[in-house]
Formats: sequence, C-alpha cells, structure tokens
Amino acid sequence: MEHLISVEDLTSYEIRQLLKLASDLKDEWRSGGNKPVLAGRTLGMVFQKPSLRTRVSFEVGMLHLGGRALYLSPQEIQLGQRESVADVARVLGRYVDGIMARVFGHADVQALATYSSVPVINGLSDYVHPCQALSDLFTLHEKRGELEGLTLTYVGDGNNVVHSLLFAASKVGMEIRVSTPPGYEPDDQVVSKATETAHETGGRVVMDADPQSSVSGADVIYTDAWASMGQEDERERRLPIFNPYQVNAHLVALAKPDAVVMHCLPAHRGEEITDEVIDGPQSVILDQAENRMHLQKAVLVSLMAD
Ligand code: CP
Ligand code: NVA
Repeated sequence: MEHLISVEDLTSYEIRQLLKLASDLKDEWRSGGNKPVLAGRTLGMVFQKPSLRTRVSFEVGMLHLGGRALYLSPQEIQLGQRESVADVARVLGRYVDGIMARVFGHADVQALATYSSVPVINGLSDYVHPCQALSDLFTLHEKRGELEGLTLTYVGDGNNVVHSLLFAASKVGMEIRVSTPPGYEPDDQVVSKATETAHETGGRVVMDADPQSSVSGADVIYTDAWASMGQEDERERRLPIFNPYQVNAHLVALAKPDAVVMHCLPAHRGEEITDEVIDGPQSVILDQAENRMHLQKAVLVSLMAD
C-alpha cells in the first residue's frame, strides 16, 4: 500500500491486515499506550471541508504514535486556487512524511498522490470516504466477528460513504443492500465493480428502492446525511423525497432483532435518523467514531513507519 485513496485499490488481504493491525493498536493503546513508532514523523492535514472526527482522530492518532499532525485549513492552502494541486503536493512532500486530504473533487486527492513524494490518505472526497468504510468494517468485526456472510443495508443517499461501503463490503464477502430514492442511486460504475467483486468473494450487491424490503432480516442498518457537504442548498428540496427513507424504530424493527445501527456522523437527527434509534440500544455510532482513530492508526503505521 503506497497511498490510501479508495478501498477499491485494496485487496481483501490488505483490508484484513489493516483490521488486524487496528485491533492490535487498540489493545496496545488500552493497555498503557502505543509505542512511538512514528516518532519524528509529521502528517500534513489538508482540509477543503469541515470535520470533527477526521481531524481529531488523525491528529490524536499521530500523537499517540509519537508523531505530530499539522492542520491546514481551507483558507490556508486554498487547494488549486492559490497554487496548483500538483505544486501543493510537491512542496508538502518536502516538509511532511504523509498527507491526509479532505477535498471536494476526487481528482484532487488523486493528483496529490500523483505528485507527492510521500503517502497520501483520502480523508473524504465527493466520491469516496475510505477511512470511514474501513473503520466501519473494524467496528462490525468487533461486534459480530466474521464479516463474511453479514448483510448490511444502507438506506439514504447514494453518496461517497455508500460508495466506499460498496467497495469494502464486497471485498470481504458481505451482502450489501442499497436503498435510495430513485434518482439518488450510487454511481453505476461503483455498483458494477462491487457486484463483480462480490461474485468473486461470495458476497452480494442488491439494489432495492424499497427501504422496508431492503432492511428485512439485515444484520446492519446504515445511514448518512441526505445532503452531503457541498450540497447544503439542496437540503430543503431533498427532505420530502428522502422522508420515506428515514431510519426510525419502525424500519429498524424489520431487521434482525440483534441488528446494529450505524451512521458515520454528523447526524441530522429527525431527518435521516430519529433520536430514538440513534440513542437506542442497537446504535453503535460512538464505537464507529472511536474506531476511526484505531483503524487510521493502522493506516498511518502501514504507510509511514519504517
Ligand atoms: N464521519 C466523518 O468523517 O466525520 P467528520 O466529517 O466530522 O470528519
Ligand atoms: N456524506 C457525508 C459524509 C460526512 C462524513 C458528506 O460528504 O458530507
């Protein structure tokens, strides 16, 4: 692994290795602290969009591993505006040992990887959110053990998060069902690639616009914002379209009795998910948020340690 741009680029073996390393690093951290394997290393964090989890989990993760992280705000770098993405990549590579970037256009994080002399990690683009999906596999592995054969139903908008979940779930032999309003489906190519992968791994990809049949008997229900960062002005228009896709107690009752409910956060309570569900006994949202740090430590160690 040279960079982490999309889960699509990882093999099933690499995914399983990351999950194992994340588990070891989490155990190590819990029993007194991580070894300083990234001492003297710096992660440059380029943000074009806001963040709570991504910024804090990477920054604290670097500190735990003995290194440090630099937060570079949208105003500071002005990626592609103040100077070209290629020049930002070339220059940053002279100062830091790794770059994490949260961008709008996926091509920008790809360009950072192309022109940087150091590893680049995608901290979310409009197309994918690999760190989220990998962390979510880690959370599911903790909660359920073997991932192969589990059924995850994603209900909501066909966005960056479900793209990465499609790549990730299909690589580890899960069944992933996706239920979106017509016209808001995930990218066709992502669905085809995930379907092909699923054929090889024994997984399955099912597109079903009916949220009720889609969650029926599922082990996991997952949702995310109906309007992602950059789509805020579409929110009002989307509300009535997405309303039948709300994850509420009625919908959750159709899944397996021990199903877990996931959300990458930030949540829009009362829109894509109700308070009752997100704060209820089946919700694992805070474990998901914490596990971002553990899984990303595994990514940082894999890419930046000697
Ligand atoms: N889930 C996630 O990436 O959260 P932030 O946008 O707060 O980083
Ligand atoms: N789909 C959401 C995820 C936020 C972590 C967005 O892109 O805004």
